[in-house]
Amino acid sequence: MRVLVTGGAGFIGSNIVKLLRERGAKVLILDDFSHSGFKNIIDCQADVVCADVSDEKILKKLPRVDAIIHEAAITETTLKDDTRMVKVNFEGFRNILNYSLKNKIKLVYASSAGVYGEGDCPMKESQKSLPHNIYAYSKLLCDRLFEKVTRRATRPVIAGLRYFNVYGPGEEHKGMSASMVYHLYHQMRKGNSPRLFKYGEQRRDFIYVEDVARVTVDCLEIKKSRVMNLGTGVPRSFNDIVAVLNKLLNTAFKPDYFDNPYKGNYQNYTEADVRLLKESFKGLTFLSLEEGIEKYLKYLQNS
Ligand SMILES: NC(=O)c1ccc[n+]([C@@H]2O[C@H](COP(=O)([O-])OP(=O)(O)OC[C@H]3O[C@@H](n4cnc5c(N)ncnc54)[C@H](O)[C@@H]3O)[C@@H](O)[C@H]2O)c1
Repeated sequence: MRVLVTGGAGFIGSNIVKLLRERGAKVLILDDFSHSGFKNIIDCQADVVCADVSDEKILKKLPRVDAIIHEAAITETTLKDDTRMVKVNFEGFRNILNYSLKNKIKLVYASSAGVYGEGDCPMKESQKSLPHNIYAYSKLLCDRLFEKVTRRATRPVIAGLRYFNVYGPGEEHKGMSASMVYHLYHQMRKGNSPRLFKYGEQRRDFIYVEDVARVTVDCLEIKKSRVMNLGTGVPRSFNDIVAVLNKLLNTAFKPDYFDNPYKGNYQNYTEADVRLLKESFKGLTFLSLEEGIEKYLKYLQNS
């Protein structure tokens, strides 16, 4: 099987590429390397095309693939260039979707829990969307186009995954957009107090990147098109991360709390309703925050 992975040089994309290779698939990465973690894919046997996913013409030049995993997007949620955000995230998705429909190639694409904004928890796929920023809005546009298209076409099967807060190996290049686990670990390793918005009780549905990669790849086998949450269903607080890190690093840092500059425009609480996901994947389990951070630390301490 040959799989096209757009954004395959990014954080989640590179983890997907590695998993596909382990499972014996041939991989074609399409990435414009504008925000890549190219070091993540140095050892991956994969073909690489450097191109902009929002460029319609590029897809016509690609070799035939059996499946597509679409991860390419602008992921800096604070970017102020709305035009670019919508062009890459939405028009890029439209290109991929049209290509998938025209050639009957199954497609899994990355959406985001950002579409829920400060909506009710646990967050259900059917609830009203309240995107806070242009990034989340661009993802909502993708989900709406998906809905419109899959109402008419039953083939190919298409899955959209609303990822919650992903953390784990391969996110170094993301800078400010890297996970809380990544930032808090680095602050504490430098001997500094971990910095949290007052008073660290914001809760997020944190999910380990290997779990995300596994479910994303497994989605290539689902039989019915749908958009689903991909989170653990277990929200944890920022204070919890500090406590887990303190335990694993054998430290006793107290958080340095400060005012949240994004107040009023910030997801204080996210929790995935995982019923649809568990209906599609019987017996699905995820690493707990404790297990995920322990695994991640082994990587961080060796890199
Ligand atoms: N990391 C998370 O917690 C999270 C949460 C929700 C959704 N997502 C979604 O998951 C996907 C992967 O995110 P990530 O965290 O790996 O981010 P990332 O920034 O590491 O990866 C995105 C990749 O897309 C590439 N890219 C950007 N613009 C492109 C373009 N015009 N053409 C081709 N390639 C382009 C970048 O170079 C990068 O390699 C994205 O669609 C993102 O919106 C991530």
